[in-house]
Amino acid sequence: MLSNQAGDGKRTSLHGHWSSRMAFILAVTGSAVGLGNIWKFPYIAGQNGGGAFVLVYLVCVVVIGLPVMMSEILIGRRGRRNPIATMELLGKEEGSSGKWRWVGGMGVIAGILILSYYSVIAGWTLTYIVKSATGVFVDATAQVVGDEFGAFVANWKAVALCHTLFMALTVFVVAKGVEGGLERAVKFMVPALLVLMFTLLIYSINSGYFAEGVAFMFTPDFSKLSWNSVLAALGQAFFTLSIGMGAIMAYGAYLPEETSITGASVAVVGADTGIAILAGLVIFPLVFANGLDPADGPGLVFDTLPLAFGQMAGGAFFSTIFFVLLSFAAWTSAIGLMEPAVAWVVEHFNRSRAQAAVIIGGSIWVLGFGSVLSFNVLADVNFLAGTIFDNVDYLTSNIMLPLGGLLITIFAGWVMCRNSTADELGSSGMLYKAWRVLARFIAPIGILFVLINAVT
Ligand code: TRP
Repeated sequence: MLSNQAGDGKRTSLHGHWSSRMAFILAVTGSAVGLGNIWKFPYIAGQNGGGAFVLVYLVCVVVIGLPVMMSEILIGRRGRRNPIATMELLGKEEGSSGKWRWVGGMGVIAGILILSYYSVIAGWTLTYIVKSATGVFVDATAQVVGDEFGAFVANWKAVALCHTLFMALTVFVVAKGVEGGLERAVKFMVPALLVLMFTLLIYSINSGYFAEGVAFMFTPDFSKLSWNSVLAALGQAFFTLSIGMGAIMAYGAYLPEETSITGASVAVVGADTGIAILAGLVIFPLVFANGLDPADGPGLVFDTLPLAFGQMAGGAFFSTIFFVLLSFAAWTSAIGLMEPAVAWVVEHFNRSRAQAAVIIGGSIWVLGFGSVLSFNVLADVNFLAGTIFDNVDYLTSNIMLPLGGLLITIFAGWVMCRNSTADELGSSGMLYKAWRVLARFIAPIGILFVLINAVT
């Protein structure tokens, strides 16, 4: 038993605390805003027909994502340990069972699996920094930009090298601990990313196809919506908010007692959703202006944005900055993906953060080769959801994260007693009641309903 009981009966974390409320919001925003918003959201929305998918995604974010995020933070702050130990401790403390630790365990595994492919895509963005800076895309046509992407991902050694570099960067920061560079990186990155996205927005408004892009994103055509698309929307809501796997729980463990969980959650969810919508508004007009296919898949961002930059004055410069920022965004997310596993290894095996980061990071690096090879050597190995990359993505986003979220809301809504949750959320009447209805009924029933309909 670790002795992290403070004198006043409240626990403190072994890993230190966030220096302020703002630092926490920035860290959670840094984990939420990443490739999920700019790389994944547009191509998933494109593959699932646009409007109706986006609508379902927004509903999922508000009625499921928000209560799950609040539940994760409050559980994390109450337990103040890694997700596995926190779930075990609170499970016993609330008179249920230590077996709840398996929810934390599934989250640790989900984080490892997600990072195994996330790092590969982040590696692509690293390459695109260099390609942008050397002017590859200046005045390029859609054909040239598309061929450039195709040739790059076909070269597995180049992809592996970038994956290796990105994992090394991630291990480096994780080894250094909670505060250090992390807070500072996010403080600068999110605003800068916003500025560049708005610059791109002006370009796409002037592309002549803005109306088409907006119509694609916001005109729901429910005939295009299968249960699998609904599940994809739910999975994307979980993925983009970093919820369902204990990462936010781990961050919540470092949250000062007096910070409002509701306020912080609303701020993060709002920022994250806004950036995703912005990315869609930038990308879809470019897709239609250049006769590209919105259902293009994981290459969509890499096939569209360089094209827009290539035609701008100073495009090589802005494109370079953009991919630097996107790499940063991916970096701050990757750190969050590793945190549950690293915190667990530190506490459970009594390792230093550096040792834990190297052990976990090394394993993820090896697993990542499944995704490195999915776009070239093993591109024809298809089963269940598609390539190895497709399967890891489907299993984590569409199954593990929603399942984790389901169990987390059941735990916060049904297992924890009213006093415990009211104590963490500050029982401010209406707001608390709204959360409780969402966490007890709407979110779990909604998740189950979608999972059952999509899987059967
Ligand atoms: N939200 C991140 C993104 O949109 C990806 C992600 C999923 C994540 N789960 C996470 C990041 C957990 C940190 C922690 O890119």
